[in-house]
Amino acid sequence: MKALKKEPFNNWVWDIIDDYSCGTEVYYGGAGSGKSVGAIQKAVLKACNSKRRILVIRKVQRTIKESIWHLTIELLNQAGLSKSYKSNKSDFTIALSNGSEFIFKGLDDPEKIKSIDGITDIVVEEATDITLEDFTQLNLRLRPGEEVDYPQIYLMFNPVSKVNWVYPYFFVNPVDDCKIIKTNYKNNRFLRRSYIDYLNTMADKNPAYYKIYALGEFATLDKLIFRYTKRIIPHEEVKELPLFNGLDFGYVNDPSAFINGRIDLVNKKIYVTGEYVRKGMLNDEIANVIIDLGYSKEVINADSAEQKSIAEIKRKGVARIKPARKGPDSVINGIQFIQQYELVVDERCPKITEELDNYTWKKDKKSGEYINKPVDMFNHCLDALRYGLEPYMTGKTNKLEARNKPFGL
Ligand SMILES: Nc1ncnc2c1ncn2[C@@H]1O[C@H](COP(=O)(O)OP(=O)(O)OP(=O)(O)O)[C@@H](O)[C@H]1O
Ligand SMILES: [Mg+2]
Repeated sequence: MKALKKEPFNNWVWDIIDDYSCGTEVYYGGAGSGKSVGAIQKAVLKACNSKRRILVIRKVQRTIKESIWHLTIELLNQAGLSKSYKSNKSDFTIALSNGSEFIFKGLDDPEKIKSIDGITDIVVEEATDITLEDFTQLNLRLRPGEEVDYPQIYLMFNPVSKVNWVYPYFFVNPVDDCKIIKTNYKNNRFLRRSYIDYLNTMADKNPAYYKIYALGEFATLDKLIFRYTKRIIPHEEVKELPLFNGLDFGYVNDPSAFINGRIDLVNKKIYVTGEYVRKGMLNDEIANVIIDLGYSKEVINADSAEQKSIAEIKRKGVARIKPARKGPDSVINGIQFIQQYELVVDERCPKITEELDNYTWKKDKKSGEYINKPVDMFNHCLDALRYGLEPYMTGKTNKLEARNKPFGL
C-alpha cells in the first residue's frame, strides 16, 4: 500500500500511517506537534483505501467549522483529491467518490450521535473537552456488533490536567488494545520558526505552561483554588436566577473570554452556563459574538484595563457593557467571594473547566509555601467570571439578594 510518498507526513505519523492494529489510538502531547494533522491524514488515507464512515467529534458543535472541518478539507485538497469528494457545509459531511464519508458532530447534544448508524471509525479532537461518559457512549457507537474491518477511535489532546478523565483512564492503568503516542513541537518538522521561538521563550517565562503546552507533560497537581462540579445545567433549572456576564480581553497569545452564568444568592450557588473563548478576535468580532449569542441587551462586565475596547463594543450595539471595578485586591477578593459559593459548571464549557483544573496558588520560591496569590495563568475565563460576578460582590448585593429571594425557595 505504501506507494505513498513520505514528504507530506511527519515521521511519527508515517510510522503508523497504515497500522490499524489497535482499536484505540491516543495522540497526546505539546501544542503544535502535528496531532490534529496527523490523525486526519491517517483517517483520510483509511477512507480512501476502503469504504469508511468516519465520525469526527468535538465537544461543542460551533467550534467544528473553523478547526477540524477546515483542516480535513485542506488535507483532502492537498492530497490531490479536490475532485473526488463533495462537502456539505450545512450538515458538515464530506462524501468521497468511493463511498466513504466523514460526519462532523458536536457532542453538545449526545442524542444526535445516537441516530447515526454504521460508523467505522471515530476521531475525537480535543478529547479532554469531552467527558468519560461521552467517550463510553462513543465507543458503544463504534462497536455495534456488525462486521467492520479495523474499527478505530483516535483521540487527540494536550495533557491539560491530571484531574481530567484521560489521565486516570489512559495513564494510570494500562488500557487493552490501545496505542499511546506522545509528541511535542520537536516532532513536527513543519512548524514555523517564529512559533518554535515563542515556545522556547516560554521555557523561562512560564515553566509550568512550557511543561504542559510545549513538552506535553502532565504537570503535577498543585494546590487548586476552586472546587466545582460539572454537569449539564438545564435552562429550566436556573432561568429565574439573576444572570451575570463577564468579558476578558485577549488577542494574539491569550484568548478573549466571554462567560455567562446565574447566581443563586440564597442557596449560595454559582452556575456557569455558557462560554465563548477564542484567540485573535477584534472588538467588532467580539461584539458580533455577543449579539449572535443573544446577550446584547444584558449587562456585561468587562476588564476595566481596556476602556477603548469597551467603548468600541458598546458602539457596535452592546449597550450595557461596562468596566468591572478593579481595586488593588480585586483578584483575591473575587476569589474569596467565589469560594463561598458552590460552583457548578455546565459540561459544555470545556475552556473554563480546563482553567479550573489548573488554576493554582503560587508557591514562595524559597520556602516552598503557598502564598495568597494565584499563579498568573489559566485565568482568562476565570477573570471573566470574576468580572461578571463583580456587581454581586459590592454594596449592590443586598438589593440583588432581595430580588433573588422569591426564587431561592
Ligand atoms: N504534515 C504536515 N504538513 C504540513 N504542515 C503540518 C503538518 N503537520 C503539522 N503541520 C503544521 O503544524 C501546525 C500544527 O499542527 P497541528 O495543529 O496538527 O498540531 P497539534 O498537535 O494538533 O496542536 P494543538 O495541540 O495545538 O492542537 C499546523 O497548523 C500546520 O501548519
Ligand atoms: Mg490539535
